[in-house]
Amino acid sequence: MHARGGSAAASGTLYDATMTVDPASLKIQLYPASILRERCEPVTYTDNVRAVAQRMVEMMYKADGVGLAAPQVGLPWMLFVADVPEDEGRSSETTPPSASRGAEVFINPEIVGTAGIPEPMAEGCLSLPGVLGEVFRPPTVTIRALDLEGNPFERTATGLLGRCYLHEYDHLTGVLILDKMDDRELRKNKTLISSLERRAK
Ligand code: NI
Repeated sequence: MHARGGSAAASGTLYDATMTVDPASLKIQLYPASILRERCEPVTYTDNVRAVAQRMVEMMYKADGVGLAAPQVGLPWMLFVADVPEDEGRSSETTPPSASRGAEVFINPEIVGTAGIPEPMAEGCLSLPGVLGEVFRPPTVTIRALDLEGNPFERTATGLLGRCYLHEYDHLTGVLILDKMDDRELRKNKTLISSLERRAK
């Protein structure tokens, strides 16, 4: 997930299931790259998965994002990273938290449940530079995954943090914010979306 504009080079799908992935070769994939529409597969925890997750954290920070999912770097893996910094109205100390305590890694995440009436908030995405539009999401989510060390954990989050988890999880099922914006929000972003589509041709 993304707060402000940025740029990254588009490239084709990089992943072949028989290969070890070179973390240094990963690049942020821009809409309408087909990898962004794939359903991701669970991964077996290995040193390579760990190295990819660490590289994704670096890439997220470099791109000024608060979340990044594996298909956004060309990998159809059930994996995302997040770091929603504390800010006015966002804390890592509340129950549930609305901000991160540092980089968070979710390997093979599962949504355990959501709670509350869906609320709108403007979202951006590192794969859709410049696009910003309102998306409705439930305010609280509980998610289960393996962490960077391969240990299982469960975490409930709300506010921007919960929203970020849901946004990144959507990427693992091939869903983009464009699919969740209403016609009015899509119209506001029409020029940017069209130019991304033209660039790819
Ligand atoms: Ni995104």
